[in-house]
Amino acid sequence: MAVARTPLIAGNWKMNLDHLQAVAFVQKLHWTLKDAAHEDGSVEVAVFPPFTDIRTVQTLIDADKIPFAFGAQDISTHDSGAYTGEVSGAFLSKLSCRYVIIGHSERREYHHETDEIVAAKVRAALKHGIVPVICVGETLEQREESGPTAVSVAQLRVALEAVSADDDFVVAYEPVWAIGTGQVASPEQAQEVCAALREVISEALGADVAAKTRVLYGGSVKSGNIASFMREPDVDGALVGGASLVVDEFASIIRFQKHVGV
Ligand code: PGA
Repeated sequence: MAVARTPLIAGNWKMNLDHLQAVAFVQKLHWTLKDAAHEDGSVEVAVFPPFTDIRTVQTLIDADKIPFAFGAQDISTHDSGAYTGEVSGAFLSKLSCRYVIIGHSERREYHHETDEIVAAKVRAALKHGIVPVICVGETLEQREESGPTAVSVAQLRVALEAVSADDDFVVAYEPVWAIGTGQVASPEQAQEVCAALREVISEALGADVAAKTRVLYGGSVKSGNIASFMREPDVDGALVGGASLVVDEFASIIRFQKHVGV
């Protein structure tokens, strides 16, 4: 049952690159892929700049017709009002954000985002026509205590309460112990959890939705290991942190089909 899911390579810039650096980065990435004769559309490319860069990235992508998607790294659960520092889905949608990352482990940890808050943010994104990239993943202690899949499965079940079968969404499995540590999960470990997450999608929303929804792996992805993940049947792309800040490295990750013969 081969289902064609366009791979998604997503760069989570976190709190890096100001809006001027963002211009240089996006232009250089575009030229690098062009020079390498990268076939647009074979892989979907998305960048997730800080809020302050989004308007600039939108204008550049629009003006130069650059075939990248872009999104935000967070979204408010509210539409508007007295919520100092928050950014609403209404604003993000005005800026044509296609995606928003929700429930990244750094937000769960440093901003105390619970599964319920994650679900509320997923609801807010969908309400404004933005595709949520729902992040789940376990710490090393949780993996040792309850096995490789339990935490991610439980986190995704709650998030999917906000989703219905005709909504578009992406899931990203990011083991906390692999993020920014260089301690990458093995392709088999990624596959095991991504397959379990697809099963959760199937139970919640049906087999068709599970078959078309992209499940990404994230955590110390580099040009040297992306191919091994992409060979796994349930890994449909990557959410890349550190390596998404280096043009040549990110371009090489995007071009995984060339250097690995997947
Ligand atoms: P990393 O981060 O690639 O630097 O490990 C991934 C992420 O946090 O999305």
